[in-house]
Amino acid sequence: MSVKSLKYPQDWIERKKQKQLISIITCYDYMMAKWIARTEIDAILVGDSLGMVIQGNQSTLPVQIDDIIYHTKIVRKGAPDKFLIADMPFGSYQSDITEGLKNSFRIIKETNCQALKFEGADQHTLQIIERIVKSGFPVMGHIGLTPQSFMMMGGFRIQGKEEKQKQILLEQAKKLESVGCFSIVLELVEKELAKEISKNLTIPTIGIGSGNETDGQVLVIQDLLGMDPDFIPKHAKVYANFSALGIEALRNYDIEVKQKKFP
Ligand code: KIV
Repeated sequence: MSVKSLKYPQDWIERKKQKQLISIITCYDYMMAKWIARTEIDAILVGDSLGMVIQGNQSTLPVQIDDIIYHTKIVRKGAPDKFLIADMPFGSYQSDITEGLKNSFRIIKETNCQALKFEGADQHTLQIIERIVKSGFPVMGHIGLTPQSFMMMGGFRIQGKEEKQKQILLEQAKKLESVGCFSIVLELVEKELAKEISKNLTIPTIGIGSGNETDGQVLVIQDLLGMDPDFIPKHAKVYANFSALGIEALRNYDIEVKQKKFP
């Protein structure tokens, strides 16, 4: 069966109806975007994970709006035709609705992205999301482990194990759907709960560390490509060990320069 590329929010919902899974990968630079452009991967997320995998911070909290704009613009150049989602960084929408909307519209205007992603589903965030969707722009939700609140959540741990938390997550997902999100990331959500949430929504769920019963998956590209020689998250699968290859290539270059074999 042929798979239609994802261009508009309606295409995402249609995919779910057709029971065809969705693949998303994060990306932060032009060259890797060119690689992705040559694959059938459905969409690219310029995530605030760039704070960790690009900037080397301990969390996503230091990421600025300008960082998201910079990286989204260069990814767009490398993958002009992919569905491109930009992440709203910590502090860009939490303080005040007007400020949140202003920052959202700035990212939309400056990056040429096709959607914004927001973490959380509290009343304030829901109001901002609803306003953006009503203004005509697509929004992706993100619940479960929301890395911008990892301090209050007691670290990076599976969410939705207790009954009360299950109900909260299910309600959050429904609220995000009702304010117009076209899709929701479920991060580190307990597997059975992720399945139940997915069954209860018409919009697709995109899992990360949430089992294989969601409507799609997202991974951080550095994890998938084994770029970090020191760390791989438990939920990730390393499809190629680029750090080993890279370190070996660099060592060989060093040896050849010193032995006058290169150039
Ligand atoms: O910032 C990010 O990369 C993300 C994904 C892990 C979903 O939010």
